[in-house]
Parts: sequence; C-alpha cells; structure tokens
Amino acid sequence: MALLEILTAPDPRLYGKAFPVQKVDSAIRKLMDDLLETLYENNAVGFASMQAGIQKRVLAIDLGERNNFFRKPLLMANPELHWVSLETQVTKEGCLSVPNVWLDVIRPLEAHVSYLDENNQRQHLKAKGLLADCIQHEIDHLNGILFIEHLSSLKREMIMRKLMKNKKNKGSL
Ligand code: NI
Repeated sequence: MALLEILTAPDPRLYGKAFPVQKVDSAIRKLMDDLLETLYENNAVGFASMQAGIQKRVLAIDLGERNNFFRKPLLMANPELHWVSLETQVTKEGCLSVPNVWLDVIRPLEAHVSYLDENNQRQHLKAKGLLADCIQHEIDHLNGILFIEHLSSLKREMIMRKLMKNKKNKGSL
C-alpha cells in the first residue's frame, strides 16, 4: 500500500470527470487499498481517486464507529446512484481537498447505489443517514464536484478566497 497525494481546491484536476474502470483487477484493487490507507492516515471517512489526481471511478469509505449497520470499509468501482429520497438531511461535511472547512450540506436522506466491489462483483446497497451522505459526497468527486458547490455562490466564493490565500502563504500556488 502507498499513501497518495491529496489535491486541494482550486487544483483544476479536481474538476474533471473520472472514467469507468473495465473491471476490478489487481491494479484497481491496489488503488482501492491506497485510497483506504490515505483515508485512514488522514482520519477521513471517504476518499475518491480524483482527489489524488487519478481519473478512475473508484472510491473508498469507512465510517468506522459512526456507522451502525455497515462496519467494514466500502470499496467501490463505477458506483451509480439509482435512487435518492425526496426527504433530505443536513450533515456537517468536510473534505481533504477543501482543508479546514466544515459546513452544513443538504442532501437526500437515502440513496440506493450499485457498484463493483473489490472482487469485481456487482453489489447493491441501500444507504441512509451518514453513509448515504458520504456516498453522495464521494460520487460527486468522480464527477468533478466539491461539496462547496452545494452552497450558495457567496459562501463558496468566501471559501475559495480563503483557500487561495492559504495556498499563497504556503507558497504552493
Ligand atoms: Ni471530499
């Protein structure tokens, strides 16, 4: 396993679209492991390949103790949302690609998703609550969407200005 680079906004690579994988082979399994290791190292609950500059539709989620009904890492390739509820929830979200920002985001409370697991098997999952929120956040990454896109444009601009300033201070822009 290896730790992956973490891109932060406004890196243009975060705004592209990821490509589906043909099948989950040993290379994709290695990518899944790397995503998971990077997630654990950074105390995150989800991490998508696009955040490491890899344009493949692959993501990893582990809510650990915060999830009562799915106590193991979820590794997904080519995830697809089939249905979301009209009922919504508000979740305080953060993102490794938008450092030090935690904000309330409104999303559907329930989401049904299908995906290829680490053994290349097609799986269907009916998720609710925090897990549903996290799955939607990570699938957004594969479509080049950051969680701050769900906020008002005024709020988003304030955050982007702050991120640009932080990058300049670090001299990494
Ligand atoms: Ni994120």
